[in-house]
Amino acid sequence: MDHTNQYLLNFKGYYFQRFLAETDILENLADFEIRDDDVFIITYPKSGTIWAQQILSSIYFEGHRNRTEMVEIYHRVLFLEYNPEKVDYVKRPSPRLFSSHLPYYLVPKGLKNKKAKVIYIYRNPKDVLISYFHFSNWLLTLEPSDDIEHFMEKFLDGKVFGSLWFDHIRGWYEHRHDFNILFMMYEEMKKDLRRSVLKISSFLEKELSEEDLDAVVNQATFENMKRDPQADLDHLLNSANWTRTKDGHFLRKGTIGDWKNHLTVAQNERFDRIFQKKMKDFPLKFIWDIDEE
Ligand code: PPS
Repeated sequence: MDHTNQYLLNFKGYYFQRFLAETDILENLADFEIRDDDVFIITYPKSGTIWAQQILSSIYFEGHRNRTEMVEIYHRVLFLEYNPEKVDYVKRPSPRLFSSHLPYYLVPKGLKNKKAKVIYIYRNPKDVLISYFHFSNWLLTLEPSDDIEHFMEKFLDGKVFGSLWFDHIRGWYEHRHDFNILFMMYEEMKKDLRRSVLKISSFLEKELSEEDLDAVVNQATFENMKRDPQADLDHLLNSANWTRTKDGHFLRKGTIGDWKNHLTVAQNERFDRIFQKKMKDFPLKFIWDIDEE
């Protein structure tokens, strides 16, 4: 089976099995019309999507930055391949902010004219795995796993929504010259949020005053996002009965290296072996530990 079909199968099978009636959503996206001032956040799941959504919407919109306009995060940034409220993206005023978990070969073709901007956020895959394990046991729309061993099997096999982590990041990186793209690392954002916001705003050609920069950074800290009902999805997910229990959290830990609290030595060694094989010669650096430079 080729990549696209495998991806579509995972997309439908592991996420939308309860909700997706129309199965042609992804197929239609190829011709979705892109505007020059569109911005896309691209992530493999659990890599910092909502964080980037918060940063981008407060860079772009004064009302979000100074909290005079209280709009939920999922209404500020549209999810390209998932539109349960059937918002008409064509009628949406510019600039439009999107996010997506799609691999490079399924995004709209118009992105290849390199005018619209793409920000790819990546995170060390052991923390992605742990975050994803908790999330899929919490969210009703995802397939639960008995334990980490069970989830790790699926994750390393690409049998999860979003397919194989290794293919996602490699694909986007290897095709970076086809897009106007900035790669941002979750861990660098965590270590120096201010510097990261500046890097993002400069890529977006959005100059921020010191005061505005402070406001963006302040709103994007983990603690402040957790306190912000517009940015934290817990309420939405719980009230829509999308969760298996009421004690999970979308903004769960927000740290670097939580995998150390979960993976056994054997699981970690296995992960390392596979990582080294799959990511041999891959130039982007990863940070696995909070103390690592
Ligand atoms: S999803 O479901 O794919 O859209 O999830 P995503 O938003 O990509 O990832 C969720 C993880 O990102 C963490 N997060 C943050 N970390 C640090 N600082 C901030 N501000 C922040 N916002 C979100 C969130 O806590 C999830 O990671 P874990 O490790 O589960 O805590």
